[in-house]
Amino acid sequence: MQKFMIMGGNRLVGTVRVSGSKNATLPIMAASLLLDGQCTIRGIPRLRDVAVMRDVLVYLGANVVWEKDVMRIDARNVSCQEVSEDLMRRMRASNLVLGPLIGRFRQAKISYPGGCNIGSRPMNLHLKGLQALGVGITERFGYITARTGKLAGSEIYLDLPSVGATENLMMAAVLAKGTTVIRNAAREPEIIDLRNFLNLMGAKISGAGTDTIKITGVDSLHGVEHTVIPDRIEAGTHMVAAAITGGDVVVADVIPEHLEPVINKLREAGAYVEVKDNQVRVAVDKKLKAVDIKTMPYPGFPTDMQPQFMALLTMAEGTGIITETIFENRYKHVMELRRMGADIRLEGQTAVVRGGPRLSGACVEASDLRAGAALVLAGMAAENGTVVEHVEHIDRGYERLENKYNALGARIIRVHN
Ligand code: UD1
Repeated sequence: MQKFMIMGGNRLVGTVRVSGSKNATLPIMAASLLLDGQCTIRGIPRLRDVAVMRDVLVYLGANVVWEKDVMRIDARNVSCQEVSEDLMRRMRASNLVLGPLIGRFRQAKISYPGGCNIGSRPMNLHLKGLQALGVGITERFGYITARTGKLAGSEIYLDLPSVGATENLMMAAVLAKGTTVIRNAAREPEIIDLRNFLNLMGAKISGAGTDTIKITGVDSLHGVEHTVIPDRIEAGTHMVAAAITGGDVVVADVIPEHLEPVINKLREAGAYVEVKDNQVRVAVDKKLKAVDIKTMPYPGFPTDMQPQFMALLTMAEGTGIITETIFENRYKHVMELRRMGADIRLEGQTAVVRGGPRLSGACVEASDLRAGAALVLAGMAAENGTVVEHVEHIDRGYERLENKYNALGARIIRVHN
């Protein structure tokens, strides 16, 4: 176990570069399983979750070479279609191999991912969609077995615009016979990036980024090179880091359009936000005003930015209401922020955050990735020292976060127990 020791109180100033998107990288790596060949993916972030997906691909028989931010995946020798419980437990997103394995081999077996720290996160929509494509599903002894003799295009309606279900079904349908239409599909930018990757390989997908995606099955795919999009959640986290420390930070290498919900909320709170080409500058020289936030599927306010904004609201002027509509258990950071002096009242899925003076340093625990990021932001803004335990959660989705913030003036030390 590693922890961060943070000495709060410094303004962040300077430029920080955003790495490639974790949530675009994971499905794209999984999609490489569709190919009886090799592909090259650039802009790969050095993250624990990416290392787990690499391990999953290797376990299945792929040859993966990962050097700096470039990954070459050769899936020619993939012979296994089963992912062990151990790998599924290490990362929920390992379930993204289900669609491509079904697409290429017409069979797959994965351990049921189960719940996680932020909610129960079932897979019913993934499975219902696969069944519509003609896949037989059996669920026994904690494993999902999927098998089909004939993968046939079909109409699929998702009860919820699930990101993972949309991705799994897109990947499964690429090599199906006929046309698949996914309605009420997720519209996240990572879905568009996956579409771009698949279409480069020879797939025929249209409508990604809207709620109706059409996939016309093809017979074969070919190797490609692709660069993943920048990580909009990492970028949003840095923007809040600038705001919470009263700093002046240029967040570079971003796609500003992907950051609109965050940009708008920061402006509403009174931050100065300047958008130029592929960078966003956030500058704050006064106390921010409280704002209300409701998490929604894209293009709404991202649930993955909710904890970081909660940290910000604890020090704003007035009371902000946060409503979490995506995950039922995404308030683990509330207890930890309270330990730092925050005034937060929970009523079901709603958090009432009464802004106050600066938080004070405390020993807190990161329960999950974004909760951990929120605690780092709170620690940088707090009086005195903060210890954030279980940094391994933060490493799942941020590339050496302490180095990026220390370069902007923060004082964070990683301590190895
Ligand atoms: C992805 C992101 C995650 C983000 C989330 C929502 C990746 C690797 N992870 O997760 O960072 O927080 O989108 O933006 O991209 N649901 C069902 N049945 C299903 C599938 C989902 O009920 O079969 C529910 C979930 O429990 C949740 C909601 O739908 O309440 C959204 O989940 P989903 O969009 O699937 O999230 P993930 O793809 O797991």
